[in-house]
Amino acid sequence: MWFKNLRADIKAAKLNDPAARNSFEIWLTYSGVHALSWHRFAYFLQKIKLKLLARIVSQLTRFFTGIEIHPAAKIEGGVFIDHGSGVVIGETAEVHKGTVIYQGVTLGGTGKERGKRHPTIMENVTLSAGAKVLGGFTVGKGAKIGAGAVVLKEVPPYATVVGVPGRIVRIREPECEDCVHSGIIAVKALNTELDHEKEERAKEAARLAEEERSGKKKE
Ligand SMILES: CC(C)(COP(=O)(O)OP(=O)(O)OC[C@H]1O[C@@H](n2cnc3c(N)ncnc32)[C@H](O)[C@@H]1OP(=O)(O)O)[C@@H](O)C(=O)NCCC(=O)NCCS
Repeated sequence: MWFKNLRADIKAAKLNDPAARNSFEIWLTYSGVHALSWHRFAYFLQKIKLKLLARIVSQLTRFFTGIEIHPAAKIEGGVFIDHGSGVVIGETAEVHKGTVIYQGVTLGGTGKERGKRHPTIMENVTLSAGAKVLGGFTVGKGAKIGAGAVVLKEVPPYATVVGVPGRIVRIREPECEDCVHSGIIAVKALNTELDHEKEERAKEAARLAEEERSGKKKE
């Protein structure tokens, strides 16, 4: 199982990093692959109730890779952590296969919840550099979280979320990276509605200013 997961991690690195040259180099030098392998050992220690030892393994891994994964976090084989530094994955987080995690990503809690307080990341999600996903909700499969976004609520599958707080800017068609889902039409319609409202407000302000000016002229 451990080797199967390692193979899947190396394959994920090859798939997602255009700079990756071969499996041996990835195994030897990729800190994300190292962190996940050690995490699996820490997870095993946690399962057999050697929690202190599990924590020690997790902290040593953090020291060497800059990636902190709580020993109880559930991470499938075939996840790719690129660069790694500053990645934090909390105790009740779950990460499914095909997910890519860039540097500075936090899968954390808001500090207000108990129990399941870290996110579940479904298959093939992209968590861009510096993204913070905070809370015990689900990020749907194929979703993309933009660099620097702070996500505080559920993300539907194939959605792109950017900004602080995170907002949906796009929903792609499943199994079709470039085409758009009816969801994007809904997002566009919503944005058009908001633009229209803004336009109306600006017109109203201009009309009032004009009235004020002509009133002053008469005086
Ligand atoms: C979100 C991201 C994954 C692109 O997803 P996408 O579905 O292709 O989205 P688009 O590029 O079409 O952008 C959609 C909108 O969001 C905006 N946007 C994209 N990324 C953004 C970000 N990080 N923050 C704020 N807005 C962003 C775009 O300007 C665009 O706005 P517009 O529709 O008003 O023009 C990408 O922009 C991103 O953040 N990549 C970072 C990858 C990374 O971390 N690389 C590090 C390697 S070391």
